Amino acid sequence: MVLKSCCVYSVGVVSVLMLILGISLVLTSVFPHLVQSMVKKQVVLKNDTDAFEAWKDPPAHIYMQFYFFNLTNPQEVLDGERPAVVEIGPYTYEYRPMEQIDFQDNGTKVTAVNTKTYIFQRNMSRGPESDLVRTVNIPAMTVMERFKDNFVEANLISAYMKGTGQGLFTTRTVGELLWGYEDGLLKALKIIRPDLDDVFGLFYKQNNASNDGEYVFFTGQQNYRDFSRVDMWKGESLNWWTSDECNMINGTIGTAFHPVITKNDMLYIFSSDLCR
Ligand SMILES: *[C@@H]1O[C@H](CO)[C@@H](O)[C@H](O)[C@H]1NC(C)=O
Ligand SMILES: *[C@@H]1O[C@H](CO)[C@@H](O)[C@H](O)[C@H]1NC(C)=O
Ligand SMILES: *[C@@H]1O[C@H](CO)[C@@H](O)[C@H](O)[C@H]1NC(C)=O
Ligand SMILES: *[C@@H]1O[C@H](CO)[C@@H](O)[C@H](O)[C@H]1NC(C)=O
Ligand SMILES: *[C@@H]1O[C@H](CO)[C@@H](O)[C@H](O)[C@H]1NC(C)=O
Ligand SMILES: *[C@@H]1O[C@H](CO)[C@@H](O)[C@H](O)[C@H]1NC(C)=O
Repeated sequence: MVLKSCCVYSVGVVSVLMLILGISLVLTSVFPHLVQSMVKKQVVLKNDTDAFEAWKDPPAHIYMQFYFFNLTNPQEVLDGERPAVVEIGPYTYEYRPMEQIDFQDNGTKVTAVNTKTYIFQRNMSRGPESDLVRTVNIPAMTVMERFKDNFVEANLISAYMKGTGQGLFTTRTVGELLWGYEDGLLKALKIIRPDLDDVFGLFYKQNNASNDGEYVFFTGQQNYRDFSRVDMWKGESLNWWTSDECNMINGTIGTAFHPVITKNDMLYIFSSDLCR
């Protein structure tokens, strides 16, 4: 009797152990794989899926933050010293939903444009858009470089800059630097060079409700790793830069990535802002 109950007891222990082993096996290997394969199937850009809605109009806000370097020693720089700058920022803007969405090639690709609406977020910025920044006078530098071999224009530029007290540096508001301001020198040059645009801004023409052209994305239907990856931009692969390597379009536009990412995965982002 004693032996028997001991046997029953050990059989019981063994079965409990087996059960625990079984459960942990399922939990550590089979279960995650199951979840992963379900996720891989679910995360596809397809009408009326959660993944599609989140890609079209991301539930998390997307911000663009700008930082500027404020020059503190312009006179010394002109005398040959190193520039001393103070970083100021961020100046934060929120932007972009996807528009004009159209599925292609049996749902393996989707075309869309990315209309950018920049809305200034005062509460996430260092100061208002009217903060002043002293920085390089980019229009002046650009025209000086462009017309340096052209005697007449070079003299005109020099005379204009002396006459108006413009130098190599300029102090402008954050809003002007980003979204554009009418530059006196460019305006004066426009009289002899009508093709010049007299407005300068780092994001001039990227402004409101403009888009950067049509994108073709992979939906991830064929391979989960292709989820929201950029296939083409403006109807072609890039020809902006001079080498094939720089013209590669790799990765997503940065608002979404494929599911099941490991620590060793390399994620690529394509930003059309660099092509300008
Ligand atoms: C998604 O489906 C709805 C109707 O179910 C349709 O109105 C809409 O145009 C579709 N969207 C796309 C991008 O095909
Ligand atoms: C779409 O699917 C149909 C049927 O599966 C096939 O005949 C057709 O060639 C496919 N078209 C494209 C563009 O892949
Ligand atoms: C862009 O347009 C929106 C609404 O039309 C406006 O609130 C916002 O201030 C504009 N942004 C810029 C940078 O002009
Ligand atoms: C900033 O203000 C906007 C409304 O103007 C609000 O939606 C947003 O949550 C605020 N952000 C922070 C970080 O307070
Ligand atoms: C940047 O420098 C200029 C010139 O010294 C100054 O007027 C301006 O207030 C500075 N901007 C900020 C945001 O501190
Ligand atoms: C990047 O894209 C190019 C094609 O544009 C492709 O040849 C290359 O293999 C891609 N590189 C990576 C790391 O995905």
